[in-house]
Amino acid sequence: MSSIVLGVSGGVAAYKAAVVLRAFTEAGHDVRVVPTPGALHFVGAATFEALSGNPVTTDVWSDVPEVAHVRIGQHADLVVVAPATADLLARAAAGRADDLLTATLLTASCPVVFVPAMHTEMWLHPATQDNVATLRRRGAVVLPPAVGRLTGPDSGPGRLPEPADIAALATVVLEHGAAALAQDLAGTRVVVSAGGTREPLDPVRYLGNRSSGKQGWALARVAAARGADVVLVAANVELPAPFGVRVVPVGTAEELRTAMRTEAKEADVVVMSAAVADFRPASVATAKLKKDSASEPGSVALVRNPDVLAELVAERPAGQLVVGFAAETGDDDADVLTHARAKLARKGCDLLVVNDVSAGQVFGRPDNSVVVLAADGSATEVPRGSKDAVAVGIWDAVAPRLVDRGRT
Ligand code: CTP
Repeated sequence: MSSIVLGVSGGVAAYKAAVVLRAFTEAGHDVRVVPTPGALHFVGAATFEALSGNPVTTDVWSDVPEVAHVRIGQHADLVVVAPATADLLARAAAGRADDLLTATLLTASCPVVFVPAMHTEMWLHPATQDNVATLRRRGAVVLPPAVGRLTGPDSGPGRLPEPADIAALATVVLEHGAAALAQDLAGTRVVVSAGGTREPLDPVRYLGNRSSGKQGWALARVAAARGADVVLVAANVELPAPFGVRVVPVGTAEELRTAMRTEAKEADVVVMSAAVADFRPASVATAKLKKDSASEPGSVALVRNPDVLAELVAERPAGQLVVGFAAETGDDDADVLTHARAKLARKGCDLLVVNDVSAGQVFGRPDNSVVVLAADGSATEVPRGSKDAVAVGIWDAVAPRLVDRGRT
C-alpha cells in the first residue's frame, strides 16, 4: 500500500477526480485528497472524505499542530493533481504556497503527476506552455491533455484524460518513477495495431483468436503520455479509446492490412502487436450455414493471409522503426529466444517483442513479461508487471533508436 496525495484544482473536470480516487483506493492505496478552495465549488469535501476515508482540508490553517502543509507532502509516495487548471500550473511553476495543495507540492520529494484540464486557448497560451515546460524541467510529469469535447460547445486539446487512463499512468509513475513518462516521444508519429483479427465463415460466425488488445492499448496510452501522436488500429477490441489516441477499428486481417499500410506511410514507429490470423476461410458464405442443410461443411478450406508485418518492413520509408511481436514456446529443436531470433531475422523488423507463452497464459491477463530483441543482437528483459509497465519497458527500448526524421 502506498500513500497517494490526490490534488484537485478548480475545474469542472473535478468530478472525474472522484473516480480516480476510487481506482486508487480499490488498488489498496491510502489516499489523501487535497482540493483547492475552487475545486470545492464543483465537488463537496464530503464526497472526497467518504471515498478516501481521510479528512479533507484546503487551507494551511486547519490541523495547525499537525503541520499538515508540510507533513502531507513529506509522507507521500506520489502526488497526482487531476484536474490541474492553468492557475494551478502557474502557481506550482512559480513555487507559491498559498493553499494546502501548493504547499504540499513544495514539500513533496516523491514523483508528481499533473493532469491538465482547461479550455484550449488557456492550454495553448505561451504562459501555460512555459509553466508546463518549467514543471517538466524540474522533473514533474505533466500529461498532455486529451483532445475532445470541453465544457459548453468547445472542442479541442484541454480535456481531462479518462479516469482509467489517469489511474493506470499514475500507477506506472508510482512503481517506476517519473522517467517512465519522459517526453522522449514528443513530435513522433506512432502507429500501433492491437487486438485479434476475425475471419468470417458466414454472416454470423468467424475464426478468431483470444487476444484482448490490452497490451496494444497500454502501448498506445503510454506513447501518448510520452508525447507521441498515436494511431491505434484496433481489431475487435471493446475497450474505451485511450486518451489522445485516434482509433481505427478493423475486423479482418485484410482490413487491418489496408489500415496499417495507409497509417504507416507517415509514421516514425510502427508496432504490430495485433494477433493476425495467418489463414482465412477460402470462401465466405453469404447466408448463414445451416447444420441440417446440404451446405453443411465437412471441413473448412483455408487460404493464407498476407504477412502484414513483412509487408510493412518491405514498404517502410527511410528511418522508420518497425516493431514486431512474437508469442513463442520452446520445443525439442530450440528455446524461445532462439526461435525468436530466427523470427526477427525472417521478418526483417528492427525490434521483436517476445512473449514466452510456454509457462502460462498471456491472453486476457492483466500482467505480462517480455524480452525485446533488436536487430543489432541486443536483448532487453522487461520484468513481469502490468501491461502499462511492460509498455514503458518497450518504449524505453524503442525511444533511443528513433531517428530524427526532420519533423521534431
Ligand atoms: N503478423 C502479421 N501478419 C500475419 C501474421 C502475423 O503481420 N499474417 C505479425 C504479428 O502482428 C506479429 C508478428 O507478425 O507482430 C509475429 O507473428 P507470428 O504469427 O508469431 O509469426 P509467424 O511468422 O506467423 O510465425 P509462426 O506462426 O511460425 O510462429
